[in-house]
Amino acid sequence: MKTRITELFGIEHPIIQGGMHYVGYAELAAAVSNAGGLGIITGLTQKTPDNLAKEIARCREMTDKPFGVNLTFLPAVKPPDYPGFVDAIIEGGIKIVETAGNNPAKWLPKLQENGIKVIHKCTTVRHALKGQSIGVDALSIDGFECGGHPGEDDIPNMILLPRAAEELEIPFVASGGMSDARSLVASLAMGAEGMNMGTRFIATREAPVHDNVKQAILNADETDTRLVMRPLRNTERVLTNTAVERLLQKERDIGPGITFEDIAPEVVGVYPRVMVDGDMTAGAWSCGMVAGLVHDIPSVQELIDRIMRDAEALIRGRLTGLLN
Ligand SMILES: Cc1cc2nc3c(=O)[nH]c(=O)nc-3n(C[C@H](O)[C@H](O)[C@H](O)COP(=O)(O)O)c2cc1C
Repeated sequence: MKTRITELFGIEHPIIQGGMHYVGYAELAAAVSNAGGLGIITGLTQKTPDNLAKEIARCREMTDKPFGVNLTFLPAVKPPDYPGFVDAIIEGGIKIVETAGNNPAKWLPKLQENGIKVIHKCTTVRHALKGQSIGVDALSIDGFECGGHPGEDDIPNMILLPRAAEELEIPFVASGGMSDARSLVASLAMGAEGMNMGTRFIATREAPVHDNVKQAILNADETDTRLVMRPLRNTERVLTNTAVERLLQKERDIGPGITFEDIAPEVVGVYPRVMVDGDMTAGAWSCGMVAGLVHDIPSVQELIDRIMRDAEALIRGRLTGLLN
C-alpha cells in the first residue's frame, strides 16, 4: 500500500508506533520497523541525551530500516535537557522525529536543517493548522479515544479526521483507537494517509514491558479507561485501577483548586513501577479505549501482516462488493 506517508518516511506499510513512555525502547521500535512500519523510540524515557544516543545505536543494531524518535513537550516538574536530546537525535543520524505536546516551532529549523522530517501529534484541527503553518512535514491526529493526552476539546476521530482532511494540505495519520485493518481502512476513507497506534502495540510479544501490563490491556474493555488531571488542563486517558479511582475522588473532593502536588502520589514515578515491576495499581498510566479491541498478544510482525492482509481483503472484498 502506497500513501503520502509511506513515501514521506520511506516505509512499506502506513503504520506508525507512537512514542510511549517506558514502552518505546529499541526492541519495540526495531520490531515495528522490521515489520515494515515506522517504529519510534521515546526520547524522554532515556534519562539523558547520552542514554538516548545509546538507545538509538542499540536500535540501529536491530534494524536497518528507518525508525524515529519521539520528543514530548509537556508540563514537567523539571524540564528535560531538550537541546541535548535534539543533538543526540541529529548525531544519531535519525531522520524522523515525532513531536507532541507544545508547539515544536522552536526546534523545527534545527531538525529540518539536518534532514529530519517532523511529524507533529495534535488533538485539534486548530493545532494541526498551526503545525502546518510552522512547516511540520506531517501530522498525527490524535482523537479523544486515544491513550495518553487527548487534549481538552474531546473530539472523537469520526469527526476529527474528516475535519482534518477538510482543512489540511500536508499528509496526516489517524491516531487514537486504532487496532486493526478496520481502523486502517476507515482512516484512509476519512482522508488519513495511515494510522498511528499506541495501546495496541503494548500488547505484542516484543513490547519490553511487564507481562502484567499486556494482560491488563487484554482483560480491559472499552469502558475501563478514565480521564484524569482534567482540572489541571493536562487531561490524560488512563486505565482505571484503585490509584486512579483515588485520584478522581481527590479531584471531586478538592474541586477546581486542586494542584499537581495534591495528586503527585498517583502520577509521579508511576511508569517504572507499572512497566518494569508490573505493579498494576502503582498509579495512573496511559491506555486507550481501544483496549476493548485487543484480544491477543501477537508478535509485531504477525500484527502488522494481519492488518495489511485484512485491509486488502476488506477493500477488495467487502467494500468493492458493495458496489455491485
Ligand atoms: C503507555 C502509553 C504511554 C504514552 N507515552 C507517550 C509519550 O511519552 N509521548 C507521546 O507523545 N505520546 C505518548 N503516548 C501516546 C501514543 O503515542 C499514541 O498517540 C496513543 O497511544 C494513540 O492512542 P491509542 O492508545 O488509542 O492507540 C502514550 C500512550 C500510551 C498508551
